[in-house]
Amino acid sequence: TVLVVDFGAQYAQLIARRVRECHVYSEIVPSSMPVEEMLARKPKAIILSGGPSSVYAEGAPAVPRGLFETGVPTFGICYGFQAMAQALGGEVAHTGVGEYGGTELTVAREGVLLSGLPSALKVWMSHGDSVVAAPRGFAVTASTAETPVAAFEDPAKGLYGVQFHPEVLHSEHGQAVLKHFLDAAGCRPNWTMLNIVEDAVTAVQAQIGPEGRAICALSGGVDSAVAAAIVQRAIGDRLTCVFVDHGLLRKGEAEQVERDFVAATGVNLRVVDAADRFLDALSGVTEPEEKRKIIGREFIRVFEDEQRAIMKDGPVDFLVQGTLYPDVVESGGGTGTANIKSHHNVGGLPEDLRFELVEPLRTLFKDEVRRAGEELGLPPAMVWRQPFPGPGLGIRIIGAVTADRLDILREADAIAREELSRAGLDREIWQCPVVLLADVRSVGVQGDGRTYGHPVVLRPVTSEDAMTADWARVPYDVLSRISTRITNEVREVNRVVIDVTSKPPGTIEWE
Ligand code: XMP
Repeated sequence: TVLVVDFGAQYAQLIARRVRECHVYSEIVPSSMPVEEMLARKPKAIILSGGPSSVYAEGAPAVPRGLFETGVPTFGICYGFQAMAQALGGEVAHTGVGEYGGTELTVAREGVLLSGLPSALKVWMSHGDSVVAAPRGFAVTASTAETPVAAFEDPAKGLYGVQFHPEVLHSEHGQAVLKHFLDAAGCRPNWTMLNIVEDAVTAVQAQIGPEGRAICALSGGVDSAVAAAIVQRAIGDRLTCVFVDHGLLRKGEAEQVERDFVAATGVNLRVVDAADRFLDALSGVTEPEEKRKIIGREFIRVFEDEQRAIMKDGPVDFLVQGTLYPDVVESGGGTGTANIKSHHNVGGLPEDLRFELVEPLRTLFKDEVRRAGEELGLPPAMVWRQPFPGPGLGIRIIGAVTADRLDILREADAIAREELSRAGLDREIWQCPVVLLADVRSVGVQGDGRTYGHPVVLRPVTSEDAMTADWARVPYDVLSRISTRITNEVREVNRVVIDVTSKPPGTIEWE
């Protein structure tokens, strides 16, 4: 394990991911964690992350006491670099000139970290203070125009640091710098997908035991599918999956779960066709929050009915959830304390369900979950599915939800997805909701006749994490094909418009 000590969450997660990309397992721990607790995790190496603070600032997070005396190889990045310099007797000064963005780094001597790299590199900087003198015994290996000490190391003690951010893509050879540190620390690249899946299966077996039974709600999304597939490998038919088909999925998605997922995993699946029930409950409802509440409520009711039916064959004590590592870190669970938070990734399961949670994806990032899904042989369309909201198409019809309107939207959405995929834009675009303005009509002309149909809105966005987003600059010819096909093939739609609002101020979804 490599521990990434978190001085500022945004950087720590990225560093942990980059370490894992070197096939070395890494975990994030808060900078408040005592050193004994860190050592209990038997770290092969420790990385101190960057952070927003100045080492001089009041309340600046301190390096855990005794960390540099542990003998564990340690790598300080940006804030971590300055904190290391300060703690070991070097000098950090507020020079008044910061460096932000792309900066030229001059390599003075290669040493360990910069071994084999060019003598000048463009790296990404973001700092106000600078290290002006390295601690005794450290070799200064690089500088920039404004920073006399931009990298240092004392390989005999296993201590290394750089002012720049090797974890960001804009830093040339950043990954090589990280790899050099991991190699020097003796970290072997054995964190592979096969091992990850096998370890997860073993852990689930240990948690559930030889007799225990578990249930899992499948949503059609990648997280619940991969979580279920892992648990199925671990306990076979003692897992029952419940798929509540609320009738608000996109074209082909219900079949993906019912047929392809079962074929790929052999999972024991109960499908509940609850489309009519959801439609009834949604009848005439136009207010977005009300729609969400109704969908969440109906989902729980159906799930609880199923749960009761499954319990007739014996007790079920475990509930499988597709909670991911970023959720765990953000809810403070990264410290290993029993902070079990039930995440509502499928319509919202109630908090008081009396189950012990099984969360086989708790240590994984999204891209790792997708690769685990591939390793498990899940259908590619499921593994690479873009984000889709739990309430589904119910919140993409502006106006009341009806079966006819769902059919219209499903067709238009399928065309947009097909054309975006065909243009090779799936990885570039975060997602592209298609929204039906069901209460709006406009006049058109088709053939020789007047039409009076509905518009659909295309909402293609780019994003890193859905918290912020920009509208995607989809090439005109692709937009044109989507528009032509939708207006030709979906009779009720006679106009296609595009949403060019960023988030904020707009949200990604329209409701
Ligand atoms: P907004 O519209 O808030 O969406 O910008 C951000 C991201 O979250 C998805 N989304 C949801 N996902 N249940 C979900 O599981 C929901 O109720 C829900 N609402 C929005 C949305 O698709 C986007 O990726």
